[in-house]
Amino acid sequence: MFVGQRFEMGDKTLRWIVDSLELSLTLVEQGGFLNYMPMLQFVGTFFTLRALKVGRNVLYRLSYISDLIAKHKATLDDPDRDSDLMYEFLQQQRKDLRQGKTDTIFTDNQLRWLLSDLFIVGLDTTVTTLRWCFLFLVREQDVQRRVFKELEATIGLDRQPTYEDRLKMPYIEAFINEVFRFGTITPLAVHATPEETTLGGYRIPKRTWVIGNLYGIHWDKKLWGDPENFRPERFLNEAGEFVRSEHVLPFSVGRRNCLGESLARIETFLFLTSMLQKYEFGVPEGFEKPSTSFRCGVTLNPNEYHVKLIERNPVIMP
Ligand code: HEM
Repeated sequence: MFVGQRFEMGDKTLRWIVDSLELSLTLVEQGGFLNYMPMLQFVGTFFTLRALKVGRNVLYRLSYISDLIAKHKATLDDPDRDSDLMYEFLQQQRKDLRQGKTDTIFTDNQLRWLLSDLFIVGLDTTVTTLRWCFLFLVREQDVQRRVFKELEATIGLDRQPTYEDRLKMPYIEAFINEVFRFGTITPLAVHATPEETTLGGYRIPKRTWVIGNLYGIHWDKKLWGDPENFRPERFLNEAGEFVRSEHVLPFSVGRRNCLGESLARIETFLFLTSMLQKYEFGVPEGFEKPSTSFRCGVTLNPNEYHVKLIERNPVIMP
């Protein structure tokens, strides 16, 4: 979508992009001191190995994107080429240049950072969501059985799932919602006030950080009763229908909420159901059930765990 390129499984560049983004997002530590006391950078923290690693990754990423821009520019007039985000951006850039616009925002530098941002927010969030999904399938075998039963009865194992199928699968919808609640992939929504404003009766001065604590909402005991338990049933009514809760806000709210929400929801549903059609998820021999402990960078990631994938042949689970 972004650069008109499909990466095959095992592609070294894709592996590098995913790994380096993950490393950066873990190292950045949104909850870390340096983010809230930038002055600390001048007392030595800036030159830590951690900061250097993040910086190196950013430079590599930008240089990779610069190569992509150069390749796109070389084929901009090719009548057979398909459209993608970079292509549309460069077309607009060319139009602005021809019209002699000096204040255009369609510059190569903007494009580099836009693509970098989209790689960051588009990849790690979805990968992390799936990690939580698989973790709970492995941990909660009863839940997995129920998810699979619904999948088998609704779609079967032969045809590919479509996003519309979710409407007939309330338990899987509830499962995904519970993953979004429990995992809270992006725990903090960080904003700042360009002007003085009031919020809930409080005066907030200009240039103040305002941080939405999505984790706090998802784990509020008063709202959920037992937030520490993974229970998809909390989103089902007595008739077994899925009931959305206004307190599940993985994509935040308001004007700056997640731009990729629809895409992320589609990806999560399709990936999860397709994997479940093919594999049963279990604990490998000699390993413990995965724990729900996590590490928090920008995203909240479960700690490494092991999964045994057993191919369904197609065998129906009891
Ligand atoms: C499950 C996956 C995802 C989760 C949980 C998630 C969550 C979030 C959250 C909490 C925010 C911050 C909103 C705020 O500041 O109030 C955000 C912003 C954003 N997300 Fe996502 N996201 C996901 C996937 C994606 C994908 C796939 C894309 C694009 C391909 C994307 C693009 C963006 C962008 C561009 C912003 C910034 C919006 C703005 O500042 O106006 N996200 N996301």
